[in-house]
Amino acid sequence: MNPSILLFLLFSCIHLSFSVSEPYTAIFSFGDSLADTGNHLVNGPNPILSTTHPPYGMTFFRRPTGRCSDGRLVIDFITEAFGLPLLPPSKAHNTDFHQGANFGITGGTAMSFGYFHERGLDSTVWVNGSLGDQVDWFEDMKPSLCSSPEECKDYFSRCLFVVGEFGGNDYNAFFFAGRDIKEVRANVHIIVGGITKGVERLINHGAVDLVVPGVFPIGCFPLYMKLYGTGRKEDYGHRTGCIRKFNSLAWHHNEKLRTELEKLQRMYPWSRIVYADYYGAAIRFNFAPKDFAEAFGLPLLPPSLASGQDFRQGANFAVTACTALDVAFWEQRGLAGIFWTNDSFGVQLQWFEQLKPSLCNTVKECKDYFGKSLFVVGEIGGNDYHFPLLANRTLEEILINQGAVDLVLPGSPPSGCFGLLLTLLPSPNKEDYEPQTGCLRKLNELSRYHNKLLRGAVRNLRSKYPEASG
Ligand SMILES: *[C@@H]1O[C@H](CO)[C@@H](O)[C@H](O)[C@H]1NC(C)=O
Ligand SMILES: *[C@@H]1O[C@H](CO)[C@@H](O)[C@H](O)[C@H]1NC(C)=O
Ligand SMILES: *[C@@H]1O[C@H](CO)[C@@H](O)[C@H](O)[C@H]1NC(C)=O
Repeated sequence: MNPSILLFLLFSCIHLSFSVSEPYTAIFSFGDSLADTGNHLVNGPNPILSTTHPPYGMTFFRRPTGRCSDGRLVIDFITEAFGLPLLPPSKAHNTDFHQGANFGITGGTAMSFGYFHERGLDSTVWVNGSLGDQVDWFEDMKPSLCSSPEECKDYFSRCLFVVGEFGGNDYNAFFFAGRDIKEVRANVHIIVGGITKGVERLINHGAVDLVVPGVFPIGCFPLYMKLYGTGRKEDYGHRTGCIRKFNSLAWHHNEKLRTELEKLQRMYPWSRIVYADYYGAAIRFNFAPKDFAEAFGLPLLPPSLASGQDFRQGANFAVTACTALDVAFWEQRGLAGIFWTNDSFGVQLQWFEQLKPSLCNTVKECKDYFGKSLFVVGEIGGNDYHFPLLANRTLEEILINQGAVDLVLPGSPPSGCFGLLLTLLPSPNKEDYEPQTGCLRKLNELSRYHNKLLRGAVRNLRSKYPEASG
């Protein structure tokens, strides 16, 4: 064969694969905790958000990134699939956003603050990060991405916009305030309208390719199962074991969203608006958890309060899940008594003890079984100095007595560096601040003291129980 023809063929192949594997210049993502790649962390760990502290991020990034996950989020996998760098949080300083940004923020809502305020729901919305706010942030960033209208049009036509999931926190705001599901259902069309309004604003800025995910089956969330579980069989889906009425709400939201997106597509025929079925993707885990064996070759951890589940291969006791705010935050708002306090470590431990008979029977069998299990304890008690660390019998010791051998005990971060505490407890005296860090000396001493006690307690436990590695 003529070498020049071969070369030509080779070049056209390269061109082809290039245009398929790198179709987007950038990805712009909007959303809530499910998309947030660290907007709450750009100014340092946030004291009220446990997700900005260890052990979050432990397995993949080896540090907390502000993601509500120990590893990557759905948006990270989408970004990787398109060969783009993981999206920096849009609030990051000195960052180039030409390859994309994530505007999603933990606690983000479809609706703006005013909507919740009108309905007396101020206290359950704790961040001004609605989709409207996020599109405002996008508008602020726009001049740094492109200049003339033609340039912007061309640039944004080569970008992917992922708008959502939105709605989860809007519904949380109602439920956490104890509102009736009828009232919530009556608001679904308004919340969906908030989402489509944001999508439309982005289209008017030049967005062409948009993916708009629906909400997850919220009736399967451990948090909902814990707070609103009834124990009555008829309230649970027979295939999923999840709370029926919440999943039906999520389903209703998604149907409405699809209908509205179809209308939008007809209004803007040059755009491509794709609905992403997060609900369908997630519910498969509940239909057939055994089909999704993951790392360690074990099934996904069932929520520990799910009824009729087999927990012999593990259970997730951390019911507050990824949106966990510290108890202190809820206490300040007079909400702790309503629901959060019972999710304390002590209570999780009680559940553990209740669950134990279903896991193993004899002392010997339990010792053997727990000896082969990994226990991740914490970080619990970050702000809670009533935590019985000084008690003669620590909670970890109780676990060890039950047979736990491998324990991971994360410490508390330096609270004297927390932006909130620096703002709330300023001191006129220079000597109250540490010279190297500028953080509040007293609070950091407290954190160091906490961690020293924890290390000491772990050491004592270790010498007492040499077979356990802590
Ligand atoms: C959100 O903004 C409104 C003003 O628009 C303000 O009144 C409210 O306190 C803010 N909420 C939070 C949680 O920052
Ligand atoms: C929390 O526990 C207390 C005491 O055990 C109980 O009275 C209360 O009803 C519980 N609250 C919830 C929401 O489970
Ligand atoms: C713990 O030990 C101290 C002294 O070592 C004792 O005064 C205290 O009563 C003990 N507390 C409990 C709960 O056993």
